[in-house]
Amino acid sequence: MLSQTMVQHLNAQLNRELYSAYFYLGLAAQAESMNLTGAAAWFFAKHGEEQAHALRFYRYLLDQGACIELSAVAAPEPVERRVLPMFERTLEHERGVTATINELIEYALVEKDHATQIFLQWFVTEQIEEEATVNDILGRLRLFGDQGQALLMIDTELSNLARQLTVAVQNAAAP
Ligand SMILES: [Fe+2]
Ligand SMILES: [Fe+2]
Repeated sequence: MLSQTMVQHLNAQLNRELYSAYFYLGLAAQAESMNLTGAAAWFFAKHGEEQAHALRFYRYLLDQGACIELSAVAAPEPVERRVLPMFERTLEHERGVTATINELIEYALVEKDHATQIFLQWFVTEQIEEEATVNDILGRLRLFGDQGQALLMIDTELSNLARQLTVAVQNAAAP
C-alpha cells in the first residue's frame, strides 16, 4: 500500500507526463505550421509516448488501490519558430523530467517503498534513452545547421525516427 504522500507525488508525476504530452503537441503543431513534416511527426510521436507514460502512472496508482487525482494541465510556453531552439527546449524539458523521476525515487527510498522503486526503474532507463536521442538530434543540428538542405535532411531523418518511435510506443503498450 502506498503512503498518502507517495500517492500525491505519483499523481503530480501523472500530471507532469500529461503536461509533457501537451508540450510536444504544441511543438508538433508549430513544426507542421513551418512545413516541417518530419519534425511534426516526431513531436507528435513524442506526444503519444508521453500519454503512454501518464497512463503507466494511472495504472500503477489504480493497481495499488490509490485514488487518481487529475489536476489542470498548464499551457506550454511559446518556443521560437526555429528547429534548433525547439530541440534545445526539448532537452531542457526532458532534463527537468529526469530530475523529477530522480526525486520520486528518493522519496520511495526514504519510505522503503520497494514496489514504487521498482515501478520507477523503467522511467530511469527511459529518461536516459530520451535524453540521448534529443542530444543526438541537437548535435546534428549544431553541426549541420537548421536551415536549407541540412534542415531538409534532418527533417527526413526525424520522419524515420517518428515511425520507429510510434511502433516502439505501440509495442510497449501491447499486453
Ligand atoms: Fe515522460
Ligand atoms: Fe519524455
